[in-house]
Amino acid sequence: KTIHVILSGGVGSRLWPVSRKSMPKQYIPMFGDKSLFQLTAERNRTLADRTLVVGNKDNYLLSQSDLMRAGIGEYTEIVEAAPRNTAAAIAFAALAAAPDDLLLVTPSDHIITNEAAYAASIAEALQLASDGYLVTFGIAPTKPETGYGYIESQGHEVLGFREKPDLATAQLFLEQGNFLWNSGMFCFQAQTFLDELAKFEPDILAKSRVCYAAGVDGLLPESQTMEIPSKSIDYAVMERSKKIKVVKTSFGWSDLGSFESIWEHWENNGEKQHFVSNNCVVGSKKHVEFIGVENLVLVETDDAILVLSKNDSQEVKKVFERLEKEK
Ligand code: GDD
Ligand code: MG
Repeated sequence: KTIHVILSGGVGSRLWPVSRKSMPKQYIPMFGDKSLFQLTAERNRTLADRTLVVGNKDNYLLSQSDLMRAGIGEYTEIVEAAPRNTAAAIAFAALAAAPDDLLLVTPSDHIITNEAAYAASIAEALQLASDGYLVTFGIAPTKPETGYGYIESQGHEVLGFREKPDLATAQLFLEQGNFLWNSGMFCFQAQTFLDELAKFEPDILAKSRVCYAAGVDGLLPESQTMEIPSKSIDYAVMERSKKIKVVKTSFGWSDLGSFESIWEHWENNGEKQHFVSNNCVVGSKKHVEFIGVENLVLVETDDAILVLSKNDSQEVKKVFERLEKEK
């Protein structure tokens, strides 16, 4: 069986104040009338036999209503008491599956265009995954983005994986020419992932097992959850495994992870209404003017205003984290 695993535990902290803990960005109908979560569920529905969501106690009701809208009445839901990052989240999904089930793991917050090319990439990945590989999806990079993982590739072969390099390293990778961005989607047999996790992060696997086993109807207990080390699959497994392959993709891909990526998405789609003299306005219903400044993003919601330099988009997370602490 093929299972589409939707990761939906993130709060989208780099999109504060648009994205909130109570309403993370993947549930907001930001583009048209469907949320990114619903679009993700719909896009993969016919490519997999089952849908499995790994979310958390603050958002599982939002997932449920989006799945209904996507026409998916039957699904598995794992509800985390607290986010422990993607290594653990994917371990839960793998533990819920049969060992030879193929997991197609996707984030819930990306925009993907050209669904035919997407389906072709998935078919290619499922084949490699059946042969026992951890399959990544490589995107041709366009700039030295520091918020992504980089895959050094040669055809399907992966020579190395490097998560979130600094700017100088990202620049080197770009110049070298054979590096791809990691899309954040993965495909593998449940057992292949569990075996590799056991090799590199036995503690994460052992504690995820204990936590999963203590769950009732997919609802995981808080005390066992907090024992699990918080690490992403990228650092925990992808940077270390020798069993990785890559499918080079040709579909349109946009990670709407930061205001900079929203800026680019709008720019590439000719959505001029969001721009005022080379600055970008997100969410404001007011008339906004800028004088003597460029490359700023102004974000307005009912209760907050954020002004930032486009180049500092990754820093928004720190503001979110500080505000969470002050609560
Ligand atoms: N269930 C669950 N629990 N989901 C989680 C958790 C968690 O604790 N933490 C993150 N997620 C979900 C997020 O909601 C998102 O859909 C996905 O997992 C990836 O997490 P991000 O926090 O968005 O990761 P990232 O953007 O920093 O980096 C990843 O994606 C990049 C591409 O967008 C990496 O895989 C990079 O290598 C990649 O380039
Ligand atoms: Mg992301």
